Amino acid sequence: MTDRYAVIGHPVAHSQSPGIHAMFAAQTGEDIAYGRLLAPVDGFAEWVKAFIAEGGRGVNVTLPFKLEAYELADEVSERARQARAANTLSFSGKKISADNTDGIGLVRDIEINLEFELKNKRVLLMGAGGAARGVLLPLLEARPARLIIANRTVERAIQLARSVRRQPAAAHMEVSACAFDDLPGQRFELVINATSSSLSDELPPLPDDLFVAGALAYDMMYGKGLTSFLAYAEARNVERLADGLGMLVEQAAESFMIWRGVRPDTQPVMLALRKS
Ligand code: ATR
Repeated sequence: MTDRYAVIGHPVAHSQSPGIHAMFAAQTGEDIAYGRLLAPVDGFAEWVKAFIAEGGRGVNVTLPFKLEAYELADEVSERARQARAANTLSFSGKKISADNTDGIGLVRDIEINLEFELKNKRVLLMGAGGAARGVLLPLLEARPARLIIANRTVERAIQLARSVRRQPAAAHMEVSACAFDDLPGQRFELVINATSSSLSDELPPLPDDLFVAGALAYDMMYGKGLTSFLAYAEARNVERLADGLGMLVEQAAESFMIWRGVRPDTQPVMLALRKS
């Protein structure tokens, strides 16, 4: 019998996950069907339970339900616990297990697809909301030399940095927080935009000399062409620019792996999405 999965969110019509998982299934020969669930904003738990009752095996969770997904679960992975959010739920009988594959998706895109090794690099993470929190632990586990979190509201950055200091991954490195005003004079090999500023074509106030030669500028946003952050980086001669499409496909592959025990090849899927 075909196993059923879905992406659940509000809104959800824009989600590329059904197409991505259909390509993974065709490639691996896994017999799955993957749809969309548009849950009402106050109806997440109810919709998940109804999907389980219909025989659903798992869901990907998108905005605004990632926090609720984490809270609904009976068991959670360490990376979901650190993120306090889940994007992947698996159902076994009535038991709900939660994971968060966003961070590992980002790290795999950076290290494997973009061939940029994080070890010993100086990394700037811009933003301290859910998107930044979701990727922080896997980033630290890749052992950069130091990681600085910069945020408009500096208190949120300080809290986020504090939340990981006790993690074994943070034991031998500097994790610190600052405001954008404190950035002048500091330079990085990798700058990741995890703020939602690209949505409104805005840009945090960044200095001109943020990047060392050969640096990578990464915007977790995708589908908007060159975001304001990537345009800013390009104007400062940064040659390596990446949007979040690779991360989107890699987080989906990690979810597929959790559910099916098979890792799909992400390259042809990324190519297909870039073409369309
Ligand atoms: P998400 O889940 O997308 O991270 P969020 O939790 O609302 O959403 O967080 C949005 C992030 O983008 C925050 O870091 C926010 O900064 P504040 O904490 O100061 O609000 C940041 N952000 C949004 N618009 C921004 C802008 N125009 N300039 C700088 N930072 C911005």
